[in-house]
This record gives sequence, structure tokens and C-alpha cells, in this order.
Amino acid sequence: MKDLMLAANWKMNKTVTESISFFSELDIRLKQWELNPRLDRIDILIFPSFISIYSVNGRSEFISVGSQNIHFEEKGAFTGEISVGMIRDYAEYALIGHSERREIFGETDSDINKKIRAALSSGITPLLCIGETLEEREAGNTFKKTGDQLKEDLSGFSAEEIGKIVFAYEPVWAIGTGKTASPEQAQEVHSFITEEINKTAGKEQKRLILYGGSVKPENCKELLAKKDINGALIGGASLNVESFFAIIEKSLELV
Ligand code: PGA
Repeated sequence: MKDLMLAANWKMNKTVTESISFFSELDIRLKQWELNPRLDRIDILIFPSFISIYSVNGRSEFISVGSQNIHFEEKGAFTGEISVGMIRDYAEYALIGHSERREIFGETDSDINKKIRAALSSGITPLLCIGETLEEREAGNTFKKTGDQLKEDLSGFSAEEIGKIVFAYEPVWAIGTGKTASPEQAQEVHSFITEEINKTAGKEQKRLILYGGSVKPENCKELLAKKDINGALIGGASLNVESFFAIIEKSLELV
């Protein structure tokens, strides 16, 4: 038995109206399980676009809301950016260091480190994503890459601060490609990540490390059953209420 987190990363999808309808539909389905104590063991979290955060906040007692990005400065001349202070009344989590932010928008580990600092100092839980590319995996550098990312992203944080961070291992080659890491491949990296974090922050705290990369109803149970996998970060399969709900339903069998 374990607690799980299922997080939906909607990326640049869904209008405000579509986001509100999704929350309402999912809420209706989750209400069926209101009296099921196992539902309390699953944290359900959605990262909609910035524009929808305000409108979906508070729409369902079962669903937490997060922001897909934040800027590390509090305010100022940063055209197009959103600060933690602007979202903190409406979002509990912030996705930080997603591979699309790193690759398409050139975010560096140093930026990511500052974003984690900004989130933590405002009481927002950072969900930090790390993961290797296909070239890095094929060259045998998976552990080196994820280890280096952890070292740089977590530089300067205390054990207590690290204890507040949720992690996601997302092999870049598995994101949006339909190619999922096998449960064994994912577990191997999750176990490495757990050890690396424990080396820096001690073993006492419970770690929440999600797997992300083509998670769907057909493969979620095998992945989530692995010892060091505590949840999933879901892109494509979270855009449709049916498939996201199916993933929640299958996860209920594991908690
Ligand atoms: P995917 O995306 O489930 O569509 O592979 C996951 C992610 O990018 O977080």
C-alpha cells in the first residue's frame, strides 16, 4: 500500500471554458468515490494554462491546481512572465524544469534553481522535472545526466527544503512519443534518484518521485506498482476526462 500523486500537465491545451468543463466532469466522477477512504491516498493535481488557473481553482475539492511555470523574480520588467506572488492564491504547486521549458525555452539549471527558491519562499510546492535525452541514454549517461541535474537544481537547499519538493523523472525520449520506459527501466532510475537525494538531504523524509512519459491507462498500473515510483505526471492522456479518470481508477487498485 502506498500514497500516490497523479498530476496532469495540460501544456498549451484547453481554453478557460474547456478547463472548467473538465474540472466539473472529473469532479462528478470523483464524487462517486467520496466515501471510499482509498481516494484520500491519491493526490490529484492539474496544471492548466496560466489563464485558466484562476477559474478552475476551488472547482473540485478533490483536485489541486498547479502552474506550469513561474518566473523567479517577484516583479519588474519581465514582459510576459508570471511571478509566484501572482499565482499563489490560486495554485498550490508549480511545475519547474519540464524538458520542454529546458529545450524549447532554453531554461538552465541555474534558472531552475532560482525558480525552486522562489516557489519555496512563497509556500508553493515545486514539482521538479529531470530526465535524460535518447542520445544520453544510448551513450550510457542516464545516471550522470539525472545526477548532474539534481546536483545543480538543488544546490544551496537545506534538507528541510528538499523535503518539500516533489520530483518527476521524465525521460525526454518518452515524452509525447508513445514510447514509455519499461517499469524496470523507470524503477532503476527512480531508485538512483532516491539515493542521490537521500545523500544530500538524509533518509528520514519520505520522497515523492513521479514518473512521466507516455503514461496511459494501459501502462500506469505496472509503472505505479514499482517500489520507488510514487505517482505519474501525465501529458497527452490527461487531456481527456475518460482516460485521466481511467488512470485514477487503476491507481485506486494500488493504494
Ligand atoms: P506525455 O507528457 O504523457 O504526453 O508523454 C508527459 C509530460 O510531458 O509531462
